[in-house]
Amino acid sequence: MEEPNGGAGESRWSKLATTLPVSNVQALAAPTADELTPDTIQRYIQPDIDAHAVFAEHSDDVPVIDLSKLLSPESVEAEAAKLKFACEEWGFFQLVNHGVPDEVIAGVKRDIEKFFQLPLDVKNAYAQRPGDLQGYGQAFVQSNDQKLDWSDMFALYTQPPQARDMSYWPSQPHTFRKYIEEYSSELMKLADSVATFIAKTLDADPELVADKNVVQIFRMNYYPQCSSAPDKVLGFSPHSDGSFLTILLEVNSVQGLQIRRHGAWIPVKPRTDALLVNVGDLLEIMTNGKYKSIEHRVTVNAHKERLSISAFHVPKLDGIISPILGIMEEKVLYKTTNVEEYSRLYMSNKLDGKRALDHAKLSIIY
Ligand code: OGA
Ligand code: NI
Repeated sequence: MEEPNGGAGESRWSKLATTLPVSNVQALAAPTADELTPDTIQRYIQPDIDAHAVFAEHSDDVPVIDLSKLLSPESVEAEAAKLKFACEEWGFFQLVNHGVPDEVIAGVKRDIEKFFQLPLDVKNAYAQRPGDLQGYGQAFVQSNDQKLDWSDMFALYTQPPQARDMSYWPSQPHTFRKYIEEYSSELMKLADSVATFIAKTLDADPELVADKNVVQIFRMNYYPQCSSAPDKVLGFSPHSDGSFLTILLEVNSVQGLQIRRHGAWIPVKPRTDALLVNVGDLLEIMTNGKYKSIEHRVTVNAHKERLSISAFHVPKLDGIISPILGIMEEKVLYKTTNVEEYSRLYMSNKLDGKRALDHAKLSIIY
């Protein structure tokens, strides 16, 4: 029987996989820390960090999409063409005039910064409990010898409301819950609206995307400064997102995110007037590879910490994703994929580029 309102069964998300506990990186990076021995830092040194060129001169090329132009009948055709180009060629776009009130964005930014400034023992009241992916800690740690990311994260299942485990919702700072709730609701509306325009760019029935963004997971990221080896560690290893759509808020405008394009890395310049939207693996599957879930990574700064909030929008766990037929004359390249299986596979491996997506492909394309 269908559970009411999407189902408390959505709390299954939190138990899809496990991750091994790791040291708190913010504490390791603190100027007073004496724990950061050469042995400790070794666990974070990434051998392949320079394997591909970084093209900073292309930072300004990341497409910009104006939601107000999509919403207006006079400009929708031209803006939808830009959106299509962005999804096909970049997999990422800066969304301006997104309609999320400034007050909500300012509130959530301020409170998340305050949260990460709290003493470790206060934050640890929200630490991930064993076997749970929610809470303050880290994800994707599967072995004691894999390289670690130079970051701490705080994950919350925010939608549908029944999926929430309020024991993880911080009561400090005191307005944090309110802003998480407001920002979460605003992003649900926004994800819906973006998905509807994406359906338009595909000439697909909007009904086909209506149920793709019903679950929302927040991942709040704290990337401490790394004064000892900033060019040798990564805040987030290369990966593509296992979502349908991801919406990223760059909290303090410190640059760090780089996206893969034509074999190189392009640093994304944070914009205070935009939210960064990217195509996730499930949208890539649904479009038979037409829209690309692009690999990305996060570098760290020698002197300044960086904060961001990723909001992953995903279908219900018992949903399925398959390439839309009828819009594509070419051959079907991806299998029909069960959301629960895909998410389990995605969460139970260390991050390794787009490897999870290979499992959804009928033939692996290199
Ligand atoms: C993510 C991610 C990028 C960032 O959370 O999946 O890629 O800039 N975050 O924090
Ligand atoms: Ni990501």
